Amino acid sequence: MKKSCIIYGGAGFIGSHIADDLLARNFKVTVFDKLNASRKNVEHILDKIDFIEGDFNNKVDINKSSKKADYVVHLVSSTLPANSNLNPFYDVESNLLSTLNLLESCVKNNIKKVIFISSGGTVYGNPLKLPIKEDHPTNPMSSYGIIKLSIEKYLGLYRNLKRLNYKILRFSNPFGERQNPKLRQGLITHLLYRIKNKMPIEIWGDGKTIRDYFYIKDGAKSVYKSIIDNSQNYIYNISSSKGLSINQILEKFRRILKLNFKVKYLESRRFDVSVNILDNRLAAKYLGWETETDFSTALKNTWRYILDYE
Ligand SMILES: NC(=O)c1ccc[n+]([C@@H]2O[C@H](COP(=O)([O-])OP(=O)(O)OC[C@H]3O[C@@H](n4cnc5c(N)ncnc54)[C@H](O)[C@@H]3O)[C@@H](O)[C@H]2O)c1
Repeated sequence: MKKSCIIYGGAGFIGSHIADDLLARNFKVTVFDKLNASRKNVEHILDKIDFIEGDFNNKVDINKSSKKADYVVHLVSSTLPANSNLNPFYDVESNLLSTLNLLESCVKNNIKKVIFISSGGTVYGNPLKLPIKEDHPTNPMSSYGIIKLSIEKYLGLYRNLKRLNYKILRFSNPFGERQNPKLRQGLITHLLYRIKNKMPIEIWGDGKTIRDYFYIKDGAKSVYKSIIDNSQNYIYNISSSKGLSINQILEKFRRILKLNFKVKYLESRRFDVSVNILDNRLAAKYLGWETETDFSTALKNTWRYILDYE
């Protein structure tokens, strides 16, 4: 019989790529997303998936939807790193409490494993050592990061108390097709969108902020690999392990994509760490997961997507 997986937040950027990957591996895929969420990212697979319209903040919706699944992927978030500090109460209520409801339902419905996409860019805080390993101290500087870390801790608690199995994938900075270019979370996609539309290119800080970027189609494969992983590791960094500054990215736009644009530098934001490069060797060793697509191919694919984006 086919294995089944429900993806909460599956109509979003990351979730839609996970849905593609699991379908290709012959999973029965259910996407759970908001009633008014756009179907654009999953339009091409709507005839192959079950789509459940529901609210992640509604206990009944969560319990009902997780009844028939073997595996659960959790991707819902109501906040971004940049806006989460504005209202931590809302962050706790909509993300943490609702996730606890999900975990309760998973226990009740005998879910085999929960895969949680956490944030390698925010849970660690300022790095003491680079590249950052999974056992590096965690000192998040935003409510967003605190919530991701709290969810991770509750997953550990539910495993100990209720035998709920799980894997945590700490994504660094995925980019590629279907990322919403109007949001500022995905730097590469957002900047390409602004360049295409001749909007000013504004950078917080001096452009020396370093991040670790990977192509989403590679990243999506880590979910299946963590589903079949029986090791005793519960947390994996998913990243390229290669740091690029914003200025280096802009240089790649000029060199690889032959783009011309001017840059305006603004004051840096207090919750941004200056460098974040994750060590991905644990994922390579135990999941057999590595980035496969070279940066320039991923960048060209993303630019093509932006050119078609309306
Ligand atoms: N994009 C990144 O750079 C990145 C990096 C690390 C971790 N993450 C985490 O991965 C997850 C997915 O990120 P993404 O970039 O795909 O985001 P996204 O916004 O594209 O997808 C999230 C999906 O969740 C749905 N959703 C939100 N609230 C809901 C609710 N109440 N009920 C039902 N559905 C709801 C949205 O409609 C959307 O389709 C998030 O938890 C995010 O914090 C993202």
